[in-house]
Amino acid sequence: MITVIGSLKGGSGKSTIAFNLAVWLAYARRNVLAIDADPQATLTDVVEVREEEGFEPGVRLAHKELLWYPERLGEYDEVLVDVGTADLESLKQAIRIADRILVPVPPSQADIWSTQRFLRLIGAVSENRGEPPQVLAFINRGDTHRAVRESDEAAAALVSLPNVEFIESRLAQRTAFRRSFSEGLAVFEMDPRSKGAQEWNALAAVLYPQVLG
Ligand SMILES: Nc1ncnc2c1ncn2[C@@H]1O[C@H](COP(=O)(O)OP(=O)(O)O)[C@@H](O)[C@H]1O
Ligand SMILES: [Mg+2]
Repeated sequence: MITVIGSLKGGSGKSTIAFNLAVWLAYARRNVLAIDADPQATLTDVVEVREEEGFEPGVRLAHKELLWYPERLGEYDEVLVDVGTADLESLKQAIRIADRILVPVPPSQADIWSTQRFLRLIGAVSENRGEPPQVLAFINRGDTHRAVRESDEAAAALVSLPNVEFIESRLAQRTAFRRSFSEGLAVFEMDPRSKGAQEWNALAAVLYPQVLG
C-alpha cells in the first residue's frame, strides 16, 4: 500500500510521522520503502542520523524519481512518501499514485484552512483517476493542557470537512517527538512507556490494523 504523508504547510509533522511509521513498520517486519519527495530532505537527514548511530532496524530510502515508476513499488509491502510543497510536481505525482493520503493537522485555524485547500488540490489532481485516494486526517501537535480547547475545536472542524476521514487518535505536542527525532529514533524506541509512545501506538494501530494481526 502506498501511503503519502502530506499537507500544504511546513511544520505539521509530515517527516516526523513518515519516519516513525517507517521504523514502526520495520519492527513489524514489513518490507517498507520510504520516499523523501521534499527538497528540504528532513526524512533523508533523520535516516542518515539513524544510520550513523547504527540503530536497527534501518529505514530504506528511495529517490523521488521512483514516484514516476509506480510499477516498481509493487515489491514492497508498504511504501511511505513524505511530500512538501517545495516540489509541487512530486507532490502531485504522489497524489496520483497514492492508495491513501495521511494529513497531520496542527490545531489552528490556519491549518484547517490549509487542509481545506489541500483537499481541493487532491480532488483536482485525482480527477483523472478511476478512484480517488482515501484521505485521512488527524490532529498532530495537539495541546496537552485540558483548559486549552484548540485541539477539540480543530477536531470538530475536521470532522465536518467533506472527502476526508477523521482519525480520532491524536498526537500531542510533546518533547518526546522532537527529541527522539533529532536522535534518529522513533518515539516508541526512546521511551516505550512515554505518553508520546502510547499516543503513537494508538495511531499506528488505527493506520495499520492488519500489522497487529
Ligand atoms: N507531536 C509533536 N510534538 C512535538 N514536536 C513535534 C511533533 N510533531 C512534529 N514535531 C516537531 O515539529 C517540527 C516540524 O516537524 P516535521 O515533521 O519536520 O514537519 P514537516 O515535515 O511537516 O515540515 C520538528 O522539529 C518536529 O520535531
Ligand atoms: Mg518535512
